[in-house]
Amino acid sequence: MKRREFLSSSLGLSAAVIAPRSARPQTSHGGAIEILFDEPIGRIAPEFHGQFTEHLGGCIYDGIWVGENSKIPNEGGIRKDLIERMRQAKIPVDRWPGGCFADSYNWRDGIGPRAERPVRTNFWADVPELWKAPDGPQKYEPNAFGTPEFMRFCRLAGAKPYVAADVRSLTPLDFYQWVEYCNSPAGTTTLARQRAADGSKDPYGVVYWGVGNESWGCGGNFLPHEYAMEFRRFTAWIPNYGMKLNLVGSGAGAGIDNPNVEWTRGFFEALAAKGKGMFKQMFGLSLHYYCFTTGKGSSIDFDVPDWYQMLWQADVMDSLLPKHWLAMGEIDTEHNVKLVVDEWGAWHRGPSIAPAYLFSYPPSLRDALVTGITLDVFNRHAEMLAMCNNAQMINNINTLFLALEDRFTVTPVYWVFDMYKAHRDGQSLRFVADAPSISYNYEGKNRTLWGLAGSASLHEKEKKLVITVVNPHVTEERQTEIVLRGASARSGRFTVLTDSNIHAHNDFDHPNAVHPAEGPASVSGSRFVWTFKPASVTKLEINLA
Ligand code: AHR
Repeated sequence: MKRREFLSSSLGLSAAVIAPRSARPQTSHGGAIEILFDEPIGRIAPEFHGQFTEHLGGCIYDGIWVGENSKIPNEGGIRKDLIERMRQAKIPVDRWPGGCFADSYNWRDGIGPRAERPVRTNFWADVPELWKAPDGPQKYEPNAFGTPEFMRFCRLAGAKPYVAADVRSLTPLDFYQWVEYCNSPAGTTTLARQRAADGSKDPYGVVYWGVGNESWGCGGNFLPHEYAMEFRRFTAWIPNYGMKLNLVGSGAGAGIDNPNVEWTRGFFEALAAKGKGMFKQMFGLSLHYYCFTTGKGSSIDFDVPDWYQMLWQADVMDSLLPKHWLAMGEIDTEHNVKLVVDEWGAWHRGPSIAPAYLFSYPPSLRDALVTGITLDVFNRHAEMLAMCNNAQMINNINTLFLALEDRFTVTPVYWVFDMYKAHRDGQSLRFVADAPSISYNYEGKNRTLWGLAGSASLHEKEKKLVITVVNPHVTEERQTEIVLRGASARSGRFTVLTDSNIHAHNDFDHPNAVHPAEGPASVSGSRFVWTFKPASVTKLEINLA
């Protein structure tokens, strides 16, 4: 059965096509999910689960970098707990050094003997919260963590490096030479010899390069056509040393009321003015979208309408991706360029774990659902995406980890990434859900949110289907009939992340407060019932007959 038929059925436009009404769960809170095996969408690249780490607040110092002489367990100055957890969640790629920081950063400050590196004013030092905070590496960048340390960190953690170049305040030659420092073969260039002196004779082989960041704002205040000119200048004749460089253009910053498609269209039109061959050399166009905080601005103190509004905001990603994709396709008609959502997440104002650690607060179960909703959206639009990077991995915004000196914890957001890694390399299948929608009132307006959403991936070799589902309702479970159109279940396992308290979160004293539960799932045949707990993210791993 095709999606259109299902939709018309779920909208009540024709006889029930999922199943006769009488055969569906007899509950006022029932839901229905269909997975259409004959409608593949695209491969779920591991890179959809990429991360982002910026010299911002406590992300680099002391999130990643604690120093070689620290009492905190470390591998060459890099926090050991972090490396171990990243390996466990198989973090595929990490973007660095910013963010806005990238366009004020001179990579040359971060190479050579550490003791001789200069101290600079950090891009974020002017943010009012930092005025009152004690002086330290969050305000005055010591450059102890530069390119050699970032590359070592990536190697230890098993992640690929994605480097954002400075377009606002450096030149194309600086970008050229940064690529040369990273990638020129051992012993060939002066910069290759410098790299060897910094600890790596062999090239780092960096393939992901961002050409600026938010070039419409902190990255230079450019107009789309001005940035197109910079993009051409920065990317013309960059040495590739036999590798394909994946160049990412700086894309739009979208909001809930403004997708900012004008940037995408304007940039692409200006690029095309010099010939559409440009698009063949470009790997991706970035897109940034944050779910800004609701209510009091706290990550852990919020009301039920704040909860729903935040989840509704996460769902905006579902319409943003096609909007930008369609605008790109008007000009790059072959869709050579894909979207790279290299900043996304739930962004609150506090409470920070330390005064200088900007945006470093404990994410709650609500942020776990934001994460599940967003990763499901990525799966459902797999054909449009090349990479996505959660902002940010440690001590920042939609963080997976919190670290303060010798204390460390994973957050509920970490567990969602850990659960969703089962989707990687699978074929995303059309996933359609139908459940009673939720009505709520936020800031005087009546609003609605869907009752269930999720995604599905087929892993043909393993004969396995992975389904992930978010139930946003704070109190109601959803007894749901799941129909596999084109396959049959033999056995399965579930993993569920939830809590009876929607404010639940992990902190240094309670690192396991929010933790997924797992077990065998009794699923069989092409039609079965599963009950999704309230306020939950669920994964079903199903062995197919
Ligand atoms: O992730 C924090 C900041 O948000 C980044 O530096 C910037 O690119 C965005 O505005």
